[in-house]
Amino acid sequence: MKKIRTGILTGTKDGTVTQREKEHAALARRAAAEGMVLLQNKNHFLPLSKNNPVALYGSGVYKTIKGGTGSGDVNERASVSIYEGMKQAGFPVSNEEWIKEYAGIYDNARMEWIKKIREGLQKHESTVDFFQFYCSHPFVIPVGNVPVKTSGETAVYVLSRVAGEGADRYARGGDYYLTKEEEEFLAAICNLYTHVILLINTGGVVDLSFLEKYENIESVLLISQPGMEGGNAVADVLSGAVNPSGKLTDTWAYQYEDYPSSATFSHNDGDVEKVLYGEDIYVGYRYFDTFRMPVRYGFGEGLSYTDFDIHAKEISVQASENNPVICVKVEIANTGKCAGREVVQIYVSSPAEKQDKPFRELAAFAKTKELQPGEKESLEICFEAEKLASYVEETGTWTLEAGTYVLWAGSSLAQAKVIGGYSLEQEVITEELTHICPVQQEYQEELDTARQELLKKLDRDELTARRQRAVQETQNSNCGVVSVDKDSWKTKSCVYRGSQMSEDEVAKQITENLTQEQLISMATGNIGKGQGGSLGAAGESVPGSAAETSDCAIKQGVAPITLADGPAGLRLMKFYDVEKETGKIAQKPFHFSLEGGVFYEDTGVQPGEERYYQYCTAIPVGTLLAQSFDTELVQEVGEMIGQELQEFRVTLWLAPGMNIHRNPLCGRNFEYYSEDPLLTGLMAAAMTRGVQSNAGVGTTIKHFACNSQEDNRMGCDSILSERALREIYLKGFEIAVKTAQPMSIMTSYNKVNGIHAANSFDLCTKAARDEWGFQGVIMTDWTTTENGPDCTAAGCMRAGNDLVMPGCQRDHENLRQELEKGMLSLDDLKACVSHSIHIILQSLAYEETQPYGKLMEK
Ligand code: BGC
Repeated sequence: MKKIRTGILTGTKDGTVTQREKEHAALARRAAAEGMVLLQNKNHFLPLSKNNPVALYGSGVYKTIKGGTGSGDVNERASVSIYEGMKQAGFPVSNEEWIKEYAGIYDNARMEWIKKIREGLQKHESTVDFFQFYCSHPFVIPVGNVPVKTSGETAVYVLSRVAGEGADRYARGGDYYLTKEEEEFLAAICNLYTHVILLINTGGVVDLSFLEKYENIESVLLISQPGMEGGNAVADVLSGAVNPSGKLTDTWAYQYEDYPSSATFSHNDGDVEKVLYGEDIYVGYRYFDTFRMPVRYGFGEGLSYTDFDIHAKEISVQASENNPVICVKVEIANTGKCAGREVVQIYVSSPAEKQDKPFRELAAFAKTKELQPGEKESLEICFEAEKLASYVEETGTWTLEAGTYVLWAGSSLAQAKVIGGYSLEQEVITEELTHICPVQQEYQEELDTARQELLKKLDRDELTARRQRAVQETQNSNCGVVSVDKDSWKTKSCVYRGSQMSEDEVAKQITENLTQEQLISMATGNIGKGQGGSLGAAGESVPGSAAETSDCAIKQGVAPITLADGPAGLRLMKFYDVEKETGKIAQKPFHFSLEGGVFYEDTGVQPGEERYYQYCTAIPVGTLLAQSFDTELVQEVGEMIGQELQEFRVTLWLAPGMNIHRNPLCGRNFEYYSEDPLLTGLMAAAMTRGVQSNAGVGTTIKHFACNSQEDNRMGCDSILSERALREIYLKGFEIAVKTAQPMSIMTSYNKVNGIHAANSFDLCTKAARDEWGFQGVIMTDWTTTENGPDCTAAGCMRAGNDLVMPGCQRDHENLRQELEKGMLSLDDLKACVSHSIHIILQSLAYEETQPYGKLMEK
């Protein structure tokens, strides 16, 4: 039996900054700068010289938004604001007076808001109700006093927005648009100063039509929500210490209405129950590019302070264990005047005679090292050809049509040029599957009509002509067309095994020896303890963690493990107190782990107690990390998070978030990576590899699946075709599972075609386990089963959703009753418990443990 570690208090008694904090802050800063995207830079206005005064305006100067709210927030020691970052970098700031006044205005407004939320705390007894109250009353950022001209010719304006789980954003002033006050403020600055730099400090897309009004907004830098080192990273980029190399992971349309889901998204049509994915597979650039809709800033765009030349040299087909791999050799030269990095993006136009397809899709990308002026680098960028297969619903197969696949390479979708292609003599079926998540009959017609309405906007003749032109261009392209041998393909056929015990013999054995009551306890979090805070802070041994698994089978060698949130770092309480004599942790209310603890009035350390500090690193939000287009960097960040998980004795990190940016108004987009599933999957895989290179810890990819709306997130129903589900919404999860085997998956709150994701056998067992080979544990999102009779704990077990989190007495009763009535089989319950135990046995809760990543390689 493996030896369980006991009695460890996490954190440090001495609250001073540790060496680990310093090192991790440095990486958070580097990551933040790497993911910032330079969108506009007239006449090479940036980088900015430190010799001239600069005025800093906008709320984000004093209070830079480091990330979103809710469970995705991190309680770091302190964050560096843009004001602090610029001052530390040595920029002469000319409007200190305004900033000081603003600080007062902001702090007062913040205090008022805190009071309101604290009142809510008293009114709402249940944590779930309070959480909803808090989510739907976001802090409104004040604008500040009218600016007056200060010395110097340049002003920076920071446009900040904050959002978070439980509520979607709104297409109105103060959110997607500027408020009237903000517009006036910006107009005043553009009037007072000769040059203006706009910094966009938001978690996602906002309206930028005001750019057309002001000629003197020279530069636009998307700083996103850059984590606790944001201010330093901004100064690094503005000063040129770091040359920006980030690229957009989303399309920034001219206007909100241009997004194909905008008319009906969330509250826009007054219906937050039914979420009809009428745009089908045409999400993000797949829509704009195919339908020829002009955009303000397109997918993959991002400028640099230098210039690059991308030259494609060769396309080749390489055999692999699976199916053929396409490789593109490119040479990138820095033709400008300063050092920098470039991202090469490869897109493919697939033949679309039999089934409609997007005009182009991202197939692969790579980032150069830092190239000095005049320096060149050769890269070989490869991808599996089957990744471009599309799902044919009639046959349930992933299929590649015969014809020419045109390859494009460039520094963005818009800049990409035809470089050649590869051809398939005949159609290839890469995989045969059975159907999952069928559309409910009552909605089929509505969904079809919505899709047809959208397709009416498509100029098919123009699209066909465009495809033909692209194919013709391959003739005169650098690399020409290589043919892929028709015999080099294998058709995979999935064997659906259904509910199965873990293949881990030890986990199986232990499970078989548990009593029925123990099995029931193991199917949920540790409800025996329960500090009354079920939402996001039910863990006790590591204060501020989200939950623990059951300790009911310690005697059989099953340790309780701890789970804590992400994705922007590790969300724990900043500190906690311990009774010196007994070693008992004095429990703090769950809201202490929200918003840096501002809703909690600290009365200091009580006599007989001592304080432990747990300062974790607040890294940039998911979207910013993905904007780096640098999987090595993301893996490095993952390694760092893994070290913090070890330090704080947390086994499962409830991250990364990897839902698709279906619409800019989703309240949690900042936590997720992109509108593109490939990029999403590769980022989540890199993060997972990083975290899981550390012993005993792992990731929880979430929210599985189709959680693209936050309003009514526990009740809404995502209605979509199987093709869109597989090609867009599951694809990223599939990539992450197949290539990185995360320890865990978290199901989402919403329904998918009428069935709660948490109770979906099709998602949990058929897709994740049988089709993709997932070997870890699947868990629910927090309190999923507490929202009505159509999603139950027993339903989770039947679906193969192994762990109901954090769990409550009602879940146990439900399991008992359904077992008794024969509605739930003991075998299904055991299968689930064995999956949990398999992961638990890999945990750092034991004295000896190894990296799960290594185990999975074997
Ligand atoms: C969120 C999850 C989070 C969980 C635990 C839920 O409200 O949706 O993303 O991991 O709480 O805090």
